[in-house]
Amino acid sequence: MTVQEEINKLKTEKNAIILAHNYEPPEIQDIADFIGDSLELALRATDVTEDIIVFCGVLFMAETAKILNPEKKVILPAPDAGCLLADQLSPEMIKSAREDNPGAEVVLYVNSTAESKAYADIVCTSANAVDVVKSLKSETVLFGPDSNLASYVQEQLPDKKIVPLPKGGNCPVHVEFTPEDAISAKKKGYTVICHPECPAEVRAHCDIIASTGSMMRNTHLSERWAVMTEKDMAYRLKTEYPDKEFLSFEKAVCKDMKKISLNDVLSSLNSESPEINLPADLMDKAESSIRRMIDLSR
Ligand code: 13P
Ligand code: SF4
Repeated sequence: MTVQEEINKLKTEKNAIILAHNYEPPEIQDIADFIGDSLELALRATDVTEDIIVFCGVLFMAETAKILNPEKKVILPAPDAGCLLADQLSPEMIKSAREDNPGAEVVLYVNSTAESKAYADIVCTSANAVDVVKSLKSETVLFGPDSNLASYVQEQLPDKKIVPLPKGGNCPVHVEFTPEDAISAKKKGYTVICHPECPAEVRAHCDIIASTGSMMRNTHLSERWAVMTEKDMAYRLKTEYPDKEFLSFEKAVCKDMKKISLNDVLSSLNSESPEINLPADLMDKAESSIRRMIDLSR
């Protein structure tokens, strides 16, 4: 039996589902039952009927799935798959920013730890950040941890005052893109689509700014795309749209998204570990800010 066949057999025997993010390596995307962006994965996690969720992504995503399914076993096959952006914000930073900005509401990007989410008013993803902020009563909004997504939301909602939390928080993968990447792709005839985590001066040269899920939905608009986000997004797009061309950027690698191998998935299904476990009171607190986002996004 191949590893893939063994995974499929165990998955059926154990009544498990494999969820994977769009940035996972091709071989993981190929064995997943559902692939999506952070919002799609969170929404999918709310109606899982299987007993076990094998989450192929990074820690904050698996934590979100666990918070939405406290009674289920959620497994992250590579327990050290973190997010260098999520780690830039702590609950202490949120508490002190709240003291400095009384009355301001706190919006946390889903790329944050469960501990931080417990101190948020509402969570957002890159797909719904603008709608989430627009829905708030307060004019001043504390937004973290990605300051580029914060500046993107500010551009879309000039009537709000978006305060980045912390100042300068960013995704090390997306800050590698330069205006020149977009300019030279355009000269070669590509339509350029970029993630809102790219810096403002890069976004200014792109044709479309989109979450990874929204990149999928925009594909009909062109035949040739330069995809300015993590490099394996191009594999995801090519699988769904084989007749179109997708230029990827080899420098854009999220090392944490590459930590799960097929053998890790197989051994985690065998041992039903490593399991995500969070204290019940932390899950309760984080859940309300995640549910508020989900209610808004349905
Ligand atoms: P998406 O929600 O757009 O998939 O983004 C997740 C992410 O980690 C971006 O770096
Ligand atoms: Fe985190 Fe950036 Fe990797 Fe996304 S690409 S998981 S934001 S480090």
